[in-house]
Amino acid sequence: MAKEQSSDTKAVRIQTQRSDQREHSTPLFLTSSFVFDSAEHAEKLFNQEVEGNVYSRYSNPNTDEFIHKLCALEQTAAGIATASGMSAVFSSMAALLEQGDHILVSRALFGSTHQLLTNVFAKWGITHTYVDVANPEDWEKAITSDTKMIYLETPSNPGLEIIDLEWASELAKAHNLILNVDNCFATPVLQKPALFGADIVIHSATKFIDGQGRGLGGAILGSADLIEKVQAFTRHAGPAMSPFNAWMFSKSLETLSVRMERHCKSALFLAECLEKHPSIQEVRYPFLPSHPSFTLAKKQMSAGGGLFTIKLDDKSKARSFIDGLKIISRSSNLGDTRTIATHPATTTHSKLHAEERAQLGITDGLIRISCGLEDAQDLLRDIEQALD
Ligand SMILES: Cc1ncc(COP(=O)(O)O)c(C=O)c1O
Repeated sequence: MAKEQSSDTKAVRIQTQRSDQREHSTPLFLTSSFVFDSAEHAEKLFNQEVEGNVYSRYSNPNTDEFIHKLCALEQTAAGIATASGMSAVFSSMAALLEQGDHILVSRALFGSTHQLLTNVFAKWGITHTYVDVANPEDWEKAITSDTKMIYLETPSNPGLEIIDLEWASELAKAHNLILNVDNCFATPVLQKPALFGADIVIHSATKFIDGQGRGLGGAILGSADLIEKVQAFTRHAGPAMSPFNAWMFSKSLETLSVRMERHCKSALFLAECLEKHPSIQEVRYPFLPSHPSFTLAKKQMSAGGGLFTIKLDDKSKARSFIDGLKIISRSSNLGDTRTIATHPATTTHSKLHAEERAQLGITDGLIRISCGLEDAQDLLRDIEQALD
């Protein structure tokens, strides 16, 4: 019996059916709509009696190819490509929750997800409770008869907190809840939440999936049943990924695994070197033995990822460090070929109240570094000179 292809091979080889032009690389399908063979064919397509493309808000060969590859990598049955990571987060909640429902949410979250929960869903009667990684006993206590979903990021942005996916999945199953995991920081190369029991896996394709800082995109992945429910929302709400971005991300998936290898190797090297630096209070990286969840990270991730944080004394030290960088970019993105330093307290997490930031360990001296693909020694020298 033929051995199943590895996900690395699938990420390269899954491809839209070749046209009679015999192209090697998938062409771009920049078309809003598709033609019908007959009036009857149109009716059958609209009734979903036959499969096929109708309109690019519903499906398109480029978005399909991207999703098939990502499903092969994440080992999920189905998925939807969205215009951004946030439209994936929003649609997965808006489609699967109703007024009066409650979400249990890990406190360590990307700032915009926090804004959605507090300022958007709350006004529509969907409530949430934040729980902390450090107090797992609080999670079960916070579940009520209205709770429908557990939502978490691991590793989290920016604190790199690690949540036990197997444990979270058992908790979700015991209470019949949907476990929704944002896998943006790890990517399927390092961690496949569905294999631990996650029902929905979210991505911001803008980050490592694109890997080159070129475009916005996202994805919602899961079982065929759940994705059908989300699709009933997205087909009409319209957060579709553009075919151009899907074409670009699909190409990027072909190199994701090799890129992640280099991101992780350089991030570990820098984190290890900087741990000894006298100006740094703390370096946090999931695969450093000093990380509070080092053992868990080793259990559920195959490498530590491309991000680490450094804690400096205060805001002025953090600012002069960022301003002193010569190679590393001052930007708020992550997962790029170019290394980026971000000051979360005044940028990505600035909308949180000071107490909320304090609860997440986002001090005024915290810097997040997304390690790119430059030479690691050059990066180390740049960081050291900026610290000096
Ligand atoms: C963990 C995480 N999830 C979701 C998002 C949102 O993604 P996008 O910017 O593509 O909307 C981000 C963006 O930084 C993120 O870091």
